[in-house]
Amino acid sequence: MTTETHECTCASRANPFMPYLAKIRSIEDLTYDVKLFNLELLDPEIREKFEYGVGQFGFVSVFGIGEAPFDISSLGHRKAGIEFAIRRVGTVSRGMHELQVDDVVGVRGPFGNTFPMHEYKGKDLVIIGGGIGMAPMRSVINYIMDFRDDYGDVFILNGARSPQDLVFKPEFEIWQSSPRTRLELTVDRGDESWKGRVDLIPTVVAEVKPSPKNAVAIICGPPIMIKFTLQQLKKLEFGDDQIVTTLESKMKCGIGKCGRCNVGEHYVCLEGPVFTMAQINQFLEEF
Ligand code: FES
Repeated sequence: MTTETHECTCASRANPFMPYLAKIRSIEDLTYDVKLFNLELLDPEIREKFEYGVGQFGFVSVFGIGEAPFDISSLGHRKAGIEFAIRRVGTVSRGMHELQVDDVVGVRGPFGNTFPMHEYKGKDLVIIGGGIGMAPMRSVINYIMDFRDDYGDVFILNGARSPQDLVFKPEFEIWQSSPRTRLELTVDRGDESWKGRVDLIPTVVAEVKPSPKNAVAIICGPPIMIKFTLQQLKKLEFGDDQIVTTLESKMKCGIGKCGRCNVGEHYVCLEGPVFTMAQINQFLEEF
């Protein structure tokens, strides 16, 4: 199984450091510290040509503050803007959270490779997202929802620190009501209103035991969650080629120039961020 490169057909390659201007069309509070921004590129020609695939990322700049990379959470084929789920954790994200609808930001991208969704056709999918790691998983899940007949059984496992930290709650019902789809939610700490699971993600994987037969597992979340979830998936006999993740990395330029995102000789911004475990193991062997 491979990951694939998605060639951008937009005009961004003329000067990849120059952001496009984009207006904030809507802002949705997903949690107390995560907002979903829907952006519309101002130039209609660039907007039309700006194509992106599942798993790609872009840089968003808040003027006077700075720029940071974020996973794209929307789907390019829906032609409904570019969405970023942004958690308020750093300077740029705090700046984003201060903005209002109709404010203008900069967007560079799209960058990186994509999840090879066509390779997953006919397979069962195990999609595991922890915390804001659900941001890229949302586009994977919604892509499957849009082309549901192309895929087998789908098991979505979404974990968070607390019920208040579960992002994309408004979409849970849509995902749950889709055929052959199971959604499990779990939190590290419940509260008086929470009736669901209070378990760590690896514990749920060990209990549910998704089958590796004709399946692919896609994971995104904090490194510690990924580490222990991988151990469980290996116990269930998922092969390294059946496990895919998207690497968070300290990206600065997005175009292979700054050397901030490399794993050994490999640049996450150019070759990733989507990798199979087999690829990551290969990098580590070379390292
Ligand atoms: S982000 Fe600069 S080289 Fe990858």
